Amino acid sequence: MKLITKSPLQIARASYQPKLPIALNGNVILKVGAATESVADHTEIKSLFPKTYGMPLLTIEPGAKKENAAVGVGVILSGGQAPGGHNVISGLYDGLKALNPENKLYGFLDGPIGLVDHEYMELTKEIVDEYRNTGGFDIIGSGRTKLEEEWQFEKGAEICKTLGIKAIVIIGGDDSNTNACVLAEYYSQTKAGIQVIGCPKTIDGDLKNEMIETSFGFDTACKVYSELIGNIQRDASSAKKYWHFIRLMGRSASHITLECALQSQPNICIISEEVEAKNMTLYDVVNNIVKIVVDRAKHGLNYGTVLIPEGLIEFIPAMKTLIAELNELLSDNEDFIALNTDEEKREYVKGMLTPESTQVYRGLPKGIARQLTLDRDPHGNVQVSLIETEKLLIEMVAKRLAQMKAEGKYKGKFSAINHFFGYEGRCAIPSNFDADYTYTLGYTASILINEGKTGYMASVRNLTASANEWMAGGVPITMMMNMERRNGKMKPVIQKALVELDGAPFKYYESVRDYWAGEKMSYIYPGPIQYYGPTEVCDQSTHTIRLEQGKMNN
Ligand code: FBP
Repeated sequence: MKLITKSPLQIARASYQPKLPIALNGNVILKVGAATESVADHTEIKSLFPKTYGMPLLTIEPGAKKENAAVGVGVILSGGQAPGGHNVISGLYDGLKALNPENKLYGFLDGPIGLVDHEYMELTKEIVDEYRNTGGFDIIGSGRTKLEEEWQFEKGAEICKTLGIKAIVIIGGDDSNTNACVLAEYYSQTKAGIQVIGCPKTIDGDLKNEMIETSFGFDTACKVYSELIGNIQRDASSAKKYWHFIRLMGRSASHITLECALQSQPNICIISEEVEAKNMTLYDVVNNIVKIVVDRAKHGLNYGTVLIPEGLIEFIPAMKTLIAELNELLSDNEDFIALNTDEEKREYVKGMLTPESTQVYRGLPKGIARQLTLDRDPHGNVQVSLIETEKLLIEMVAKRLAQMKAEGKYKGKFSAINHFFGYEGRCAIPSNFDADYTYTLGYTASILINEGKTGYMASVRNLTASANEWMAGGVPITMMMNMERRNGKMKPVIQKALVELDGAPFKYYESVRDYWAGEKMSYIYPGPIQYYGPTEVCDQSTHTIRLEQGKMNN
């Protein structure tokens, strides 16, 4: 029997050569730009990061050949999977080998814990080749352990010394890059001789700012979800009998939901940031949906699609207060942990909240209330992926429609199906955009290491242009930081980018949403990601970045 081990696409993608910007295709120099400041809270951030605060922006430009001493480098994949992680590693590997064939790359296993527990493997050519252009983080595994204690940093330094590692690359989201910055500062202060470089990863798209145009994985994940939404919309308009409530991953920010809406044009799309800005209650959100369901029913259209961002619940002001109170209350709360039953936990929580929050908590279906008290992740975040908002909304909309029917105000039929798309897209084969972007990020990291930099995030800009025109460099991580309350304490963290209501992507959506909700057919069916074919089909970046950069027609 001949075993089949790979699909034809897997085999073909193995030989795809990611594109690099021209500046990275030969010898390079670093152009040093202006000194930087943190986005806010300058004094606090400066005093917490005296060694890595205020460093200049860096741009990589073509330069002369030079001799480079051989180094060992460690790499860590941190947090949720995002398409392209393996290409950061292959770009880093190829970059290091181009600088000096004696350079060595080690992968720490299962996230930051690998550094602390000294679990690692050397990444050889054979191993790296096996993972080129593939989705997933399985080459070395990932994890969410938070690096914040001195003993962890010291354990890390110990293994780096043993293996001759002079630099660590942390591939992660805002929280993991915050940790990268803390580690870089510690190793600078203790003169450990270990540099730390970050890479912007997360499907959520919320690690972006003036210098980081997008995080990797957002492009591929949104394309996967949009394909599925398009397929559902075709089913909905064929069968004409279901409303589909689709919750999309993305943690707090609604970038994924907005991008998927721009790609597929659903009847309804909720944007958490708008809900918060308009001070809407859960009932307002429900009533907006009900209005559209009723209007469409008047035209005989008892079907449609609703996109719901995973973090919605956290943005409804009363819920936000409740969650903030729960975060403070449940952080390291031994009494709560010791309680055995859900009922005991519910009673305990009710007794400790403010009267306003107790009322909100009481009004929630028990299942949702319980989900809000589940374990936080190691960074103190509510695990929003476990909160089934789509079911909550279906329940509330159905209830309201039943009342309206009884009052003779609604004559349609409402039958709803719930979906949650998240894990389906996080390990997809990276789109050409993500494959090229991540490879370039890894390559960029190798250059920053070779130039002795620490506390920087690899950055690649001008992403709506073709890859050979991209601009690679480094951005000091302290530049992205501010102080925020986490787990009951003020902490320096990278500022999360939420959907901007005066930004071009939201403005465009706002201008067309009534049309999408109405009786005229406006669904778009994006179809699956294409890896081979015309460039306008295969290499297009997201609507979000093109709208943000005024390049929608590119
Ligand atoms: P990162 O911020 O680590 O990239 O994680 C992204 C994400 O997929 C979120 O969208 C989601 O809320 C969360 O991870 C789910 O976490 P887990 O993988 O632990 O279930």
